[in-house]
Amino acid sequence: MTAPTVGAGVDAVDTPALVIDLDAMERNLATMAAFARQHQVRLRPHAKMHKSAAIARLQIAAGAVGVCVQKTSEAEALAAAGIGDIYISNEVIDAAKLARVAALAGRVRLAIAVDSVEGVERLATAMAQHPAHRIEVFVEVDVGQGRCGVPPAAAVALAHRVVSHSPPEGGLVFGGLQAYHGAGQHIRGVTERAAASQHAASLARAAQAGIGAAGIVCPLVTGAGTGSFAFDVAAGLWGELQAGSYLFMDRDYADNEAAPGAPRFEPALFVKSQAMSRGSAHAVIDAGHKSHAVDSGPPAVWQRELDAASCSDEHTVLRPRAGAGSAALPQLGETVWLVPGHCDPTVNLHDCYVAVRGGLIAGHVEAVWPIEARGCVS
Ligand SMILES: Cc1ncc(COP(=O)(O)O)c(C=O)c1O
Repeated sequence: MTAPTVGAGVDAVDTPALVIDLDAMERNLATMAAFARQHQVRLRPHAKMHKSAAIARLQIAAGAVGVCVQKTSEAEALAAAGIGDIYISNEVIDAAKLARVAALAGRVRLAIAVDSVEGVERLATAMAQHPAHRIEVFVEVDVGQGRCGVPPAAAVALAHRVVSHSPPEGGLVFGGLQAYHGAGQHIRGVTERAAASQHAASLARAAQAGIGAAGIVCPLVTGAGTGSFAFDVAAGLWGELQAGSYLFMDRDYADNEAAPGAPRFEPALFVKSQAMSRGSAHAVIDAGHKSHAVDSGPPAVWQRELDAASCSDEHTVLRPRAGAGSAALPQLGETVWLVPGHCDPTVNLHDCYVAVRGGLIAGHVEAVWPIEARGCVS
């Protein structure tokens, strides 16, 4: 991509490009920040979604306590770019990575999740190399997804184990429970999605009660995503929300049935593309799945009567929506905006964001932000 020029019109941005509609993103940012304030819960947005220090800073300026990441290298990249409060909401087992985690705990306020005795012990061993460093530790409960996390009854023993490495002897500070149901975020129907959240709450509550009964203070339950946060807050258990995708929204989240009364978010992340070939009943754009992830299904074509019929490395084939006719097809050279099927892996395909002010039609480039944690998957 030819480097975009700050101040240039959006029409001058080379394709394919990852473009943020800043006005839309700021509305999403403000909406979630206001929701968290109103419900008196902490907001710690997931930065695995945007992987950008500039965006993390905007979230923190709007009231977020810090960010989540999923990987050690993501934490390092954002810390190096100046983010000072980071939670690795995931398990890290590898000794070499834990040595990096323990070192990083001396540079930023750091937290991490665990779901095994072995994981706690390995973390404690790594932290012992830095006696002055502290790390907050959250015990992950499997709240219905069947991925990471322990059953509620096993959380007590893990909490005990964390507490056994508390300061001043150890560097582990028990932070509470990690309770996140990833698959539950994308359940389409409101009733079924609410039920998944309630089930998650009942499991996390059981773990919390067991820990309390053992005489250990459980300071916080952290979790929640864009699909569940409104239900999770209603449960009154989560004290911190980790939602990430609300900021950009993607086609997959737009396909969820909206929960009545819950805040609404709008698409703010786009892939700008150009029609580069045409047939009588289809057109081809210059952005394939090296530019936008299709793991959650095809992108939506923004404000056009077009569907993405198929994607390959560098091409996406567009067809008129049923009843629209070939007049809906773009002319050669015409700009086509995609709303990615899934924002997180789409972001990981690009070096930078082109941040546009004033809309996608007549706006201009206000900033170009590096995606510092792009490729940080280890
Ligand atoms: C542990 C954890 N918390 C929060 C999130 C944020 O979810 P979303 O981007 O769907 O809002 C994720 C996303 O996968 C996650 O894995």
